[in-house]
Amino acid sequence: MKPVVLVTRKLPDAVEERLRRDYDARLNPDDRLYTSEEMLAAAEGADAILPCHTERFTAEVIARLPASVRAIANFSVGYDHVDTAAAKKRGLIVTNTPDVLSDATAELTIMLMLGAARRGGEGERLVRAREWRDWSPSFMVGTQMTGKRLGIVGLGRVGQVTAKRARGFDMAIHYHNPRRLPPEAEAGAVFHATPEALMPHCDILAFHCVATPETRLMLNAERIALLPDGAIVVNASRGAVIDDEALIAALKSGKVAAAGLDVFNNEPDIHPGYRALANTFLMPHIGSATRETRDAMGFRALDNLDAIFAGRDPGDRVA
Ligand code: DGY
Repeated sequence: MKPVVLVTRKLPDAVEERLRRDYDARLNPDDRLYTSEEMLAAAEGADAILPCHTERFTAEVIARLPASVRAIANFSVGYDHVDTAAAKKRGLIVTNTPDVLSDATAELTIMLMLGAARRGGEGERLVRAREWRDWSPSFMVGTQMTGKRLGIVGLGRVGQVTAKRARGFDMAIHYHNPRRLPPEAEAGAVFHATPEALMPHCDILAFHCVATPETRLMLNAERIALLPDGAIVVNASRGAVIDDEALIAALKSGKVAAAGLDVFNNEPDIHPGYRALANTFLMPHIGSATRETRDAMGFRALDNLDAIFAGRDPGDRVA
């Protein structure tokens, strides 16, 4: 008998084809977002769940999972939506999909940097609304990215690809990680032992860190004050790393010239202050949204499930 896998969202066709071939797959062709109650009911008798970050596995949800569920094979690199301590306690295997989305997310980060620095959102809105009247030397003047300093919080898989792409813009890379990287991973990037030490070196500040209790609200008013005047902030990690009130105040005062954001607290019902500002470039959490990457994420999640059901250790076990 094939293992039963509950798939919470609509996945790419090729991934669903493999799911149907190898598993007794409970698919969601309409891509309807389950409530926790609905998900728990749909998981009845399932051996595993293949969710996205849109489903939250709190300690309470995990405690109520049917006894048949052995694994949560996430279709995401981030797993802050899963209480891993509760999962471990319950003996659940939890996996994620690292590496395969680094290129796509780094591409999107460069887009956020350019969109914020060169006022991409504002320009697009003007043209679409037929409000573009004229060309003038003082019209839509932004910040040049070339040759500037990029500070990265979280120089991991995605951060390192972003750094590599940014070097194509002759940018100097600075970073903060909990621990300094070996020289080959740094590739010349300058290490700062604390976020406070990094801030003054960031013409553009990019977040690529994992959302944890330690990184929650990392960008607060005190750290913003340490940025150079007119710095740009971009975030393609998780909204939780930013104190929205503090960033919005800085965008209003001009301390932060612009922000490019793909992730937010309380998505999709984001802080309305961001929408009201002209100097924000806002994307709807699409860092990994390329055909190539979404296929690769699905296959990676399935590789993890295959290993689990073959009695092997899945490569991407996070709990
Ligand atoms: C990830 O993989 O973590 C992306 O943010 C989508 O969930």
